[in-house]
Amino acid sequence: MYLKEIKLRNFKNFIESDFEFSPKLNAFVGRNGVGKTNVLDSIHYLALTKSYLNYSDIQNINFDNDFFTLEGIFEKEKSEDVIFLSVQKEKGKQLKRNSKTFERMSDHIGLYPLVMISPYDLDLIKEGSEVRRKFIDNIISQSDKEYLSTLIRYNRVLLQRNTLLKYFFLNHTFDSNSLEIYDSELTPLGEFIYEKRKELIAQLIPVFKDYYKLISKGNESVDIVYNSSLDEKPFAELLKSGLDNDRMAQYTKLGIHKDDLEFKITGYPIKKFGSQGQQKSFLIALKLTQLELIKKNLKLTPILLLDDIFDKLDETRVEQLIKLVNEERFGQIFISDTHPERTGSILQKINAESRIFEL
Ligand SMILES: Nc1ncnc2c1ncn2[C@@H]1O[C@H](COP(=O)(O)OP(=O)(O)OP(=O)(O)O)[C@@H](O)[C@H]1O
Ligand SMILES: [Mg+2]
Repeated sequence: MYLKEIKLRNFKNFIESDFEFSPKLNAFVGRNGVGKTNVLDSIHYLALTKSYLNYSDIQNINFDNDFFTLEGIFEKEKSEDVIFLSVQKEKGKQLKRNSKTFERMSDHIGLYPLVMISPYDLDLIKEGSEVRRKFIDNIISQSDKEYLSTLIRYNRVLLQRNTLLKYFFLNHTFDSNSLEIYDSELTPLGEFIYEKRKELIAQLIPVFKDYYKLISKGNESVDIVYNSSLDEKPFAELLKSGLDNDRMAQYTKLGIHKDDLEFKITGYPIKKFGSQGQQKSFLIALKLTQLELIKKNLKLTPILLLDDIFDKLDETRVEQLIKLVNEERFGQIFISDTHPERTGSILQKINAESRIFEL
């Protein structure tokens, strides 16, 4: 599966632009602010129905217009899919495949998988644990519908339990029976999510380490550690032993909603002790791992978007990376760079089938 062409109308700074792509490597080059990231984001939009950068659809409409449209052709083994997406100020979003409107946006997900690596990924290292849980949850949910529905139920029951704790506190009352109803509902859901996360992370670590080694040429050791309060004891016991604390805090302090991942380089937290280039390499390896797991689960090779990929990486790492993504196991790639000569010479060096677009 690859994107053969895309037509942008009133999408951010592109009033009317058409692109025809190589099935392998494509590069957008040009100065700051010409719209390299915007084109990459338009591809993200078409494949996953939303922007990687903006949560609001409206913000992607060109300042001087009141709608945008994106039309792309995805080439598959035996056929072509024409995907058409439009956002209008008053009417909202519409998505069509081969002229047929999708009932639900979610029916589209999984058909054209895509992974984007961008400077914003730094949030995964810098921000709080929620971002990292989301990262893991997204990977598992892509291929496991039961996981997603369990997670939604867990969060709903958790909210009810917290509301009850708050009620007890404010009214100076307590009733263990009504709390136990929630606990017995919450326990199997939490255990299920814990096991699935553990499984995924065990699967992820060796692949991740291999990628990191390839990019860094084996220069540093990295590790990921999954931390959950459920490591300590079964969830039911955890809820019981934590009850006094929960009543005081008026919310549930332990459970899979507090899980986190520790990212380490040579044994130390990468957030504090990793250089910018090391952090970037770490994130790239992590995202390539995500791509590989999605590929395995969906049996489709995701499109890979690499935004500002050369920034902060030394020459060796850049070359390693481009060599790597040019391999058979990767599909179609889009990169952006501010230096046309750099991109040109790298692509020439590895003799890749490629197209360069100067914006
Ligand atoms: N809704 C919009 N309407 C028109 N222009 C917009 C809109 N949103 C963003 N832009 C413009 O898009 C430009 C930024 O584009 P983009 O982020 O893709 O640049 P870039 O080529 O990736 O630059 P850099 O090299 O700095 O990363 C800005 O000039 C901004 O004003
Ligand atoms: Mg950019």
